[in-house]
Amino acid sequence: MMKGFIFDLDGVIVDTARYHYLAWKKTGEELGFELSIEQNEKLKGVSRVDSLNKILGWAGVEISEEKFNRLMDEKNEDYLNYVEQMTPADILPGVKDFILELKAKGLPIALGSASKNAPRILEKIGMLEYFDAIADGNSVKKAKPDPEVFLVAAKSIVTAPEACVVFEDAEAGVEAANNAGMISIGIGSPDNLSHADHVFSDFTLITTDFILNLQPKH
Ligand code: BG6
Ligand code: MG
Repeated sequence: MMKGFIFDLDGVIVDTARYHYLAWKKTGEELGFELSIEQNEKLKGVSRVDSLNKILGWAGVEISEEKFNRLMDEKNEDYLNYVEQMTPADILPGVKDFILELKAKGLPIALGSASKNAPRILEKIGMLEYFDAIADGNSVKKAKPDPEVFLVAAKSIVTAPEACVVFEDAEAGVEAANNAGMISIGIGSPDNLSHADHVFSDFTLITTDFILNLQPKH
């Protein structure tokens, strides 16, 4: 039986991609570049530093380290202004009930997110206290698809990696879960999450019975 449950935040618990988009689009404008919605898709699950590097690559622009840091700070300030407007109504369908069901069974829940803003977002949507442990952009050095964030999360809930299930909406996140030897559940479309062990479009379609009865990979 699976024993530990690790949730990504952005795109799994809340849809923050549109706020990241609006904030990065403004950064793009400062660089004389228009960020498209398709390009924003490629930034899902990608760390803040890597996101800006990708945008600079698409824009074909090189900047100083000082400007790089300033653009990251400004982007985060803009993003946080959107976060401040978030409420429990921003929780994605079914995920809160799913987590509550696992908690009612006494099972440990951890967050495994690239975001450095994770605690603030969880606070705004009223879900901070649901998590037994939080592994986020502040607790790790290596970005997904490196498994570090999920391994740190598993350790914090004292569960072996192979007994953990990860819920992820991004390709890099699914890879990270697979690299950690955990069961990966993709939330979204099978088109871009083909490496996940199972894919569901949202949590209203997932039962805790199905998840608890999954078999470890090895
Ligand atoms: C991920 C998001 O969860 O966190 C990315 O999908 C984001 O879009 C990354 O860049 C880092 O988040 P933050 O909040 O620390 O900039
Ligand atoms: Mg995500």
